[in-house]
Amino acid sequence: MRSGALIPLADRFGRVATDLRVSLTDRCNLRCTYCMPEEGLAWLPREQQLTDDEVIRLIRIAVERLGIREVRFTGGEPLLRRGLVGIIEAAARLTPRPTLMLTTNGIGLERLAGPLRKAGLDRVNVSLDTLDPERFQALTRRDRMADVLRGLTAAATAGLTPVKINTVLMRDINDDEAPALLRFALENGYQLRFIEQMPLDAQHQWDRHTMVTAEEILAGLAPFGLLPDPVSRGTAPAETWLVPGHVDAAGNPARVGVIGSVTRPFCGDCDRTRLTADGQVRNCLFATDESDLRKLLRDDANDDEVAEAWRVAMSGKRAGHGIDDPTFLQPARPMSAIGG
Ligand code: 5AD
Ligand code: SF4
Repeated sequence: MRSGALIPLADRFGRVATDLRVSLTDRCNLRCTYCMPEEGLAWLPREQQLTDDEVIRLIRIAVERLGIREVRFTGGEPLLRRGLVGIIEAAARLTPRPTLMLTTNGIGLERLAGPLRKAGLDRVNVSLDTLDPERFQALTRRDRMADVLRGLTAAATAGLTPVKINTVLMRDINDDEAPALLRFALENGYQLRFIEQMPLDAQHQWDRHTMVTAEEILAGLAPFGLLPDPVSRGTAPAETWLVPGHVDAAGNPARVGVIGSVTRPFCGDCDRTRLTADGQVRNCLFATDESDLRKLLRDDANDDEVAEAWRVAMSGKRAGHGIDDPTFLQPARPMSAIGG
């Protein structure tokens, strides 16, 4: 192999990963019930977490040698990562410049939206499951809804657009809020996407029989008279619909998305690779094994060796998550440690 050649991350099923998700911390300042227990989790010790330089090096290898074109920063809560602005600045200097995105719970975004935009961040997704402050507190175990709403405004003002909102509906908790959340998004020019709840909670309480399905979510949105989106979905996980009579902040027809991870899986089109905060490559959210790039970095491997280990990790990607399979095993690490 020629040193420094670009060889993409392909698997046995013909999929090629061009979208990298980087978890920058497993910590979070919320405790969403579908994600973490009240007391939090056993956080990664600092020495196991990648340093800023290690994160930047891996992103560079991914872009230059593996053909990654989009980088999304996740957590835990990525705004808690001290070096975030510097990491984004470094990623924005790469050639070809990747699209840079961030998934956040919105707390602290009010202060950080401007600096992040200036550093080169292109867009944000903000998680928001309810517009009722008391429910927000019950759901996230923190009284911070106002911070999230201010974060959303700041993101739009800073030009991190289109600002997307991610919502998880849970039975008898917030499953009556789909129309109100959509009205809120339409009024403010945000693009709302509902995500089916997945078995990635630390407490292992997810239940296939009580989860709110894509079909139910769409039934709840019937009053809006949604129309099929003429623009093809491509590799995006969200199926989108047009909302007649509404436009987004850029004047395009307003859209709403539904990510049916469980009942309408899109594994066949998946173009993702994931890096955990402690430097493990995961070829799927639901993978049960990981490949240790941190050890390679700290054993002085060169870029070619790291790139090749990453390719090997991806080549073994399974065809699908198999949540509906009797043999399905929930991954050992929860969502907050994998990155959303
Ligand atoms: N199922 C679906 N979505 C989840 N998220 C966190 N845990 C789960 C889960 N078990 C969402 C968050 C956030 C994104 C990173 O993933 O609400 O929007
Ligand atoms: Fe934090 Fe996101 Fe988990 Fe909520 S879902 S506790 S915001 S990591």
